[in-house]
Amino acid sequence: MKEKFYITTPLYYVNDIPHIGHAYTTIAADVLARYKRLKGFDVFFLTGTDEHGQKIAEAAKAKGKEPQVFCDEIVTRFKSAWEVLNISYNDFIRTTEERHIKVVQEVFSKLLKAGDIYKGEYEGWYCTPCETFWTDMQLKEVKVVTPKARTSGEEHHPHGNFCPDCGRPVQKIKEHTYFFKLSRYERQLLKHIEDHPKFIEPQSRRNEVLSFVKTGLKDLSVTRTAFSWGVPVAEDPKHVVYVWFDALINYITAPGYGSNQVRFDRLWPADIHLMGKEIVRFHAVIWPCMLMALGLKLPKTIFGHGWWTVEGEKMSKSKGNVVDPLALAKEFGIDAVRYFLLKDVTFGSDGDFSRKSLIVKFNSDLANDLGNLLNRSLTMVEKYFEGKAEIPAKPDFDELSLELVSLARSTPHTYSLHMDKFEFSEALDAMLKLVNLANNYIEKEAPWKLSKEGKTEELKAVMYNLLQVLMIAAFLIYPFMPQTADNMWKQLGFSNILAESAQTPTFGGKLADKIAKGNPLFPRIVQPEADQP
Ligand code: MSP
Repeated sequence: MKEKFYITTPLYYVNDIPHIGHAYTTIAADVLARYKRLKGFDVFFLTGTDEHGQKIAEAAKAKGKEPQVFCDEIVTRFKSAWEVLNISYNDFIRTTEERHIKVVQEVFSKLLKAGDIYKGEYEGWYCTPCETFWTDMQLKEVKVVTPKARTSGEEHHPHGNFCPDCGRPVQKIKEHTYFFKLSRYERQLLKHIEDHPKFIEPQSRRNEVLSFVKTGLKDLSVTRTAFSWGVPVAEDPKHVVYVWFDALINYITAPGYGSNQVRFDRLWPADIHLMGKEIVRFHAVIWPCMLMALGLKLPKTIFGHGWWTVEGEKMSKSKGNVVDPLALAKEFGIDAVRYFLLKDVTFGSDGDFSRKSLIVKFNSDLANDLGNLLNRSLTMVEKYFEGKAEIPAKPDFDELSLELVSLARSTPHTYSLHMDKFEFSEALDAMLKLVNLANNYIEKEAPWKLSKEGKTEELKAVMYNLLQVLMIAAFLIYPFMPQTADNMWKQLGFSNILAESAQTPTFGGKLADKIAKGNPLFPRIVQPEADQP
């Protein structure tokens, strides 16, 4: 039986249509999911939407719509965006689905019975855009500068009634509520984080969470009564479950908690929860404590990636600089967008999106390096061998060939080491290094000379080596650029790349009978932006 790999994205709020930030996490998750499938894992890739709570209720009201009708409309936008961007999710969960509501109510009842949830009164502050409770102390402490505030670019108000995360005004609320005994799990959580260095990644996020937990965990209000758009507490239906408490549970609903024990036991715990850094705290503090209270295992890794700004500024509706991933995909191609987002910045760090850098990367890495290598290699195989490359007696017949062959042999391993550490950009660097060496190899071997001089055996070896490199490159780019990989694969003379998926790329793989050269993969973009330094 195949080993499982369970990966999640956050459930996106439906108050907004998908933008480049949502696409980033989802594409990264897709890349990992595809990579793991190629490695032979049985992957369960979950994404979906977060539809309850005050923020969504208010957004629906502002549009004069019933919340469910409003959610249904936006959800279609998410689903079609993911279809366009080639997201190979296995399940899409909506928190308004019956399967989920049932589990939320069951979890609540279970924790209520166990005394982990108790009734009380909450008085404090609430940030609706962040759906977060804040205490007086937290608002007043200048120290509370969270990742979101740091990157928000908005004025940060250390004193006063503003959210320490996003800087927007908070509301004072006083409500009867049910509390979850977060404090009960503080020590256990601390120990878990300390004993499991890979539980929260990257390390900077781990350190932030550790210091947060060390300041002490307070019990968390987990129901609201001021509005009704949420999962009603079965025992006390005036209360609806706090939207984060509700949404986090999706990660166990989807694999079958309470409905399919066998499947749940096989899939849980999640191998990785992927998200932006601003919501790591919910996933690395509240969620593990909920799981401990339920007696369930904790996810293996919680990874908080960085944030994208746009041309140096925070992306926001009010600034009108929100980047639509679909418009970009239409202009530059889906794979180019997928590639750019994961190549441009080290996963975990912040990035700045600009059209110019997308075009520059497109032209250098994709058009000049990868696309060109395929095109010129296949042109030569056609010209010198009528499209049929043969196996040479000695592929590494000279120093240059030896260098290329050995890099081709080691690259898949280097690439995997990076992929296994979520170092996407570095994994792509390894692929590009091989592609660049192959392009240089062509220049230095000068196959046109070998042909003129009648050195057929050498020429055969050069073509063979190039085709081997291209076959390896197709596999390595597949998780990032599935369509391009498939296109390359077909041009190399094979059928569907996934049909060959059990195969790992190694130098010496079987060649196709005849190549089938097609159009260039990435025609160079000629735009004024592209040529500026
Ligand atoms: N609904 C919660 C998550 C609940 S998970 C149980 C939520 N939703 S959200 O719609 O606000 O999505 C936040 C996520 O979108 C971030 O964690 C990140 O994955 C992605 N991004 C949104 N804006 C982003 C950037 N500007 N840059 C990078 N990713 C960001 O939080």
